Amino acid sequence: MAELIDINLDAERAIAEGCRVLAAGEPIGMPTETVYGLAADATNPSAITRIYEVKGRPRFNPLIAHMADLDMALAHAEFDPLSLKLAHAFWPGPLTLVVPLRDTSSIHDLCTAGLPTVGVRVPEGFAGRLIAAFGKPLAAPSANISGRISPTSAAHVEHDLGDRIQLILDGGASGVGVESTIIKLEDGEARLLRPGGLDVSEIEAVLGQKVIRSENAALEAIEAPGMLASHYAPNAPVRLNATAVERGEIFVNFGAQPVTGEENAVARFDLSPSGDLRQAAANLFAIMKKADGLNARGIAFAAIPDDGLGEAINDRLARAAAPRG
Ligand code: TXA
Ligand code: MG
Repeated sequence: MAELIDINLDAERAIAEGCRVLAAGEPIGMPTETVYGLAADATNPSAITRIYEVKGRPRFNPLIAHMADLDMALAHAEFDPLSLKLAHAFWPGPLTLVVPLRDTSSIHDLCTAGLPTVGVRVPEGFAGRLIAAFGKPLAAPSANISGRISPTSAAHVEHDLGDRIQLILDGGASGVGVESTIIKLEDGEARLLRPGGLDVSEIEAVLGQKVIRSENAALEAIEAPGMLASHYAPNAPVRLNATAVERGEIFVNFGAQPVTGEENAVARFDLSPSGDLRQAAANLFAIMKKADGLNARGIAFAAIPDDGLGEAINDRLARAAAPRG
């Protein structure tokens, strides 16, 4: 079983142990402000292979290279004026930038899936300190078994991966609760590859230009191949935009909206009774996991507004509801 170290009780030991296991080429569970990552040395091919083994990922997708700070990112990737603007405005934070990889970068091909670009992000708080101490970028997908709901607590990581990894660093609940927003910068344009924890309108405000949203979901899937349609899948079937609860379903509300047949629900949750989309994002995966653990015949979600972080929430819910492949 994985050893758990609480970073709030013993940050120094968490960093020392984390660096020891990472240097040995093994992945660890790492708290970030978005979701927990399964982190490994991005320059070590066997360490990256271990990420895929542990997650049971069906194929190699490009992974995000997590950096201690902008200086570390600049050593590995090329930033144009647009990407620099975004890095200055939003790092550390829930934003991943897909930018050209430098020829001189030690980041391994297995992290970039052989692409000429790399997804880079500077996480906030403890993860940044860990990376600074380790001195090299960390490749880190979410710390769940492939295709399952992303973890927002150390207990979630332990549940999925506790018998497959040596160490989980416990930083409490992830504050943002959904993965980072991914933006690709190319030819003076910014394209949204994945909605996430940073509101796209905030990005547009800083850039002073529109972020291009792909109208073709299939194209987008090629661009960000990690995004299989049926991702984030609970065992129970998921139904969206529910206005009535059917017998035996779990009902997940947002903003205490009125719904008919609520007495049919075997359990009820509200992502944010006050209708706050940030709070809803932070609660999303934990509530999906709780609901899933109840083994109901289905999970019905009330409609969620599509603005702000609602875009990321609705993206994850659409994947959870997609036909299983
Ligand atoms: O919040 C997050 O981003 C979390 C935490 C742990 O940092 N990490 C995360 O990683 O969500 P992952 O591996 O689940 O998602 C990475 C996404 C994938 O969809 C992948 O295809 C895309 O980033 N990606 C990475 N590098 C890319 C590149 N060079 N070009 C296009 N897409 C890329
Ligand atoms: Mg993931």
